[in-house]
Amino acid sequence: MGKRGIVIAIDGPAGSGKSTTARCVAGRLGYLYLDTGAMYRALGWSMIRRGLSPDDESAAAATAAALAFDFCPEASGQRVLIDGEDVTGEIRSADVSDAASRVAVHAAVRKILVARQQELGFEGGIVLEGRDTGTAVFPEAELKIFLVADVVERARRRHRELLDSGIAAEMDELTGQIRERDKRDTATQRRSGSWPASDAITVDTTGLDVDAQVARVVELARECGVET
Ligand code: DC
Repeated sequence: MGKRGIVIAIDGPAGSGKSTTARCVAGRLGYLYLDTGAMYRALGWSMIRRGLSPDDESAAAATAAALAFDFCPEASGQRVLIDGEDVTGEIRSADVSDAASRVAVHAAVRKILVARQQELGFEGGIVLEGRDTGTAVFPEAELKIFLVADVVERARRRHRELLDSGIAAEMDELTGQIRERDKRDTATQRRSGSWPASDAITVDTTGLDVDAQVARVVELARECGVET
């Protein structure tokens, strides 16, 4: 166990409830919360802003190395700032999701962002959320969770999230987008090691509400010796 507590890695496909669960678990345990996907999104956003192709590996790696971003925790999540500019909302757009998924395929980019994540979690007491957090980032994490949910349920959640932010979307289109991203993200992770981690505990969130998901993970943390 690190100085500040254990490392909890929460992983799973798009829309499986990773973000909400990770954020709430961190809140319940008084742990830091790190959304690693937001780093890939910040990079995707920067590539678009600079007029660079997210498929250009050396440009993406150079941009990643120079990326100055800050995560500011707040009650409803965390704000993401790039060079002082608040991009919290913008990095959730469909264009940025696509760019993030594209920059994430480059090994040179992953090396840089993974090293930053390891620095942030070095002392423990942290919940990391993201695809490779239990494999490449913290293979020694004391608790690894792999959240899964039915694809239609995941599309429904995305639909609701978008509606809440005033964006209309077609369910069929969302289901198609999720399948497409699953395919690319799974291929990316398989290339960078065995995925999901063989010692991850799978939690199926289909039909579970947020409270139930959080309670399950907190219970597993308790079994790892975390006091709540
Ligand atoms: O979890 P998310 O949808 O915010 O992630 C954005 C993109 O970044 C997604 O395409 C997967 C990728 N990603 C990754 O490859 N490794 C991570 N640790 C986190 C995200």
